[in-house]
Amino acid sequence: MQEDILSIKNQALAQIMSADSAAEIEQIRIDYFGRNGKFTSLVKNIKDAPPDARKQIGQTINEVKGTIEKLITEQKNNLKDSAREWFDPTIPGIKPEIGHIHLLTNTIEEISQIFGRIGFERARYPEVEWDWFSFEALNFPENHPARDDWETFFIDTPKSSKYGPMILTPHTSSGQIREMQRVKTPPIRMINIAKCYRRQSDISHVQMFHQFEGLVVDRGVSIVNLKGALDYFAKSFFGPTRVTRLRPYNFQFTEPSFEIDISCGVCNGRGCKLCKAGWLELGGAGMVHPNVLKAGGIDGKVYSGFAFGWGVERVLMMKDGIGIPDVRMIYSTDLRYLQQF
Ligand code: FA5
Repeated sequence: MQEDILSIKNQALAQIMSADSAAEIEQIRIDYFGRNGKFTSLVKNIKDAPPDARKQIGQTINEVKGTIEKLITEQKNNLKDSAREWFDPTIPGIKPEIGHIHLLTNTIEEISQIFGRIGFERARYPEVEWDWFSFEALNFPENHPARDDWETFFIDTPKSSKYGPMILTPHTSSGQIREMQRVKTPPIRMINIAKCYRRQSDISHVQMFHQFEGLVVDRGVSIVNLKGALDYFAKSFFGPTRVTRLRPYNFQFTEPSFEIDISCGVCNGRGCKLCKAGWLELGGAGMVHPNVLKAGGIDGKVYSGFAFGWGVERVLMMKDGIGIPDVRMIYSTDLRYLQQF
């Protein structure tokens, strides 16, 4: 049995010395000292040795075991150290995946550039806003449905004696008043693109979305200027054959007010399955209400203006070839979806 022990010892030492990795050494340890390991079997066999030899055999096994275990520990450490030394900084690293700008951010940039080309200045006003800027100064009556908490998010904070409750702005029109107060003396050519919040969620509504709000105030601004700006945007964003039309509507802060439709890109205004009568609904616009000019500190006898406010998500979804059937998909975090754009 002594011979068996020594032979197993020599085998183990040779294997440990030629191992190339800590994992390989760990496997050797298991092969020898694991439950069915070679050394473990030797220990189990002591009982079969003649009684007077058992003590000696036991001692030898312990000594050999100690030697092998020590070598295992040393070699594992050596391999770890040498792995560190072998680090080669010239080997190319693992390249992180290259992402790209989100399609909504691209759309905001595109809208901003289109209006920038005709002299609109990009603005961004608070999303956490006072009721006064979002409603009161925009001529909303106190009991207007948009002001109740079914539509609007109210911030749980004391009311301001001047501006009323604090809310998350439900539209970028609050920026109209802030821009008038900032500029004081027209001309104003603002394009305010920001997040808006409403308590809505369905296939075409999300609780947080983006609007872009145009505001032009100057001497002699008329509906003709509004129509020109809208057609310019429709052609630049959707394509040169597209035109807009104005349909009478009602907003508290514009008079007259319009819903803006755009000619259908599929049938070019002739009427098809998508649009029915040749037009698709784009968003709201109108001539700035005299009460709004007054709230912004602008003399309505000298100046007039137009404003429009549309959904960024909506114009993006209406773009040919985009094919987003549900606005909530724009906010998906699934890369398989986002990587398509
Ligand atoms: C307004 O918000 C007016 N402030 C627009 C305006 C500005 C009119 C200036 C006149 C002058 P409306 O509630 O219709 O209007 O919203 C405008 C657009 O915002 C909608 O056509 C839609 O595209 C987008 N929108 C509104 N609510 C949501 C929502 N919950 N999710 C996604 N988009 C929305």
